[in-house]
Amino acid sequence: MSLIEKIDKTKLPAHIGIIMDGNGRWAKKRGLPRSLGHSEGAKRVVEIVEASYKLGIKSLSLYAFSTENWKRPKEEVSKLMDLLVFYIRNQLSIIKKNNIKINLLGDINPLPEKVKKEIDIALSSTRDNDRMILNIGLNYGGRSEIVRATKLIYKDIEAGILNIENLNEGTFKEYLYTKGQEELDLLIRPSGELRVSNFMLYQLAYSEFWFSNVLWPDFTEEVLYEAIVDYQNRNRRFGGLNV
Ligand code: IPE
Ligand code: IPE
Ligand code: MG
Repeated sequence: MSLIEKIDKTKLPAHIGIIMDGNGRWAKKRGLPRSLGHSEGAKRVVEIVEASYKLGIKSLSLYAFSTENWKRPKEEVSKLMDLLVFYIRNQLSIIKKNNIKINLLGDINPLPEKVKKEIDIALSSTRDNDRMILNIGLNYGGRSEIVRATKLIYKDIEAGILNIENLNEGTFKEYLYTKGQEELDLLIRPSGELRVSNFMLYQLAYSEFWFSNVLWPDFTEEVLYEAIVDYQNRNRRFGGLNV
């Protein structure tokens, strides 16, 4: 029985997050420059998006660039930005055809103009799609998302749009980048690191974590299926008891 056949289609994680890590180490192992690890990693993004929407995943959140990744050398940052522009341009028609909506996690203001332009096109031209939401974490940090939500809430209270008595976990969620989306059921981190590196801090309160030593450029559809099969064998109690 192949892995995909082991997946119970009625118990899919509604929302999967992936910390796409290990590009640099993948390249280093082969004596290649880090930039080649990033190009190879970008190819996996296309495959994993396709595998996810075919399975029927409702939201897929991919961590592409963190608020901390600005610490890297300029050339590496600009290589990552170039890859992003290339792939959005290249993949947008297929994304549209597959009815995928692109949503942004993060503040793109500090990004180069050409990247912002491409992202604006991607966001506006997929706005009405509803088969799957593809969240792209770009200049994203979980802490900064929570601070941003707090500021937006303050503004709404000041403007009389929100009454503080009505602020609860349900309303708070509406101020996050993932507003209106399903709970993050499964968080995947390849590359052997056992940390969340500031990804979706609020959303992961009850996520199942799945870690693997596979480096992102080696992350095939099969690895995704393996993570989902494992997820489906977990016992999620949400603080309750086994029934
Ligand atoms: C993930 O791979 C890509 C980004 C963080 C943008 P890394 O570049 O972090 O790869 P390693 O961790 O150095 O192997
Ligand atoms: C996390 O990977 C960020 C992304 C995958 C975009 P990093 O490589 O930046 O994380 P650390 O430095 O290992 O925590
Ligand atoms: Mg890394």
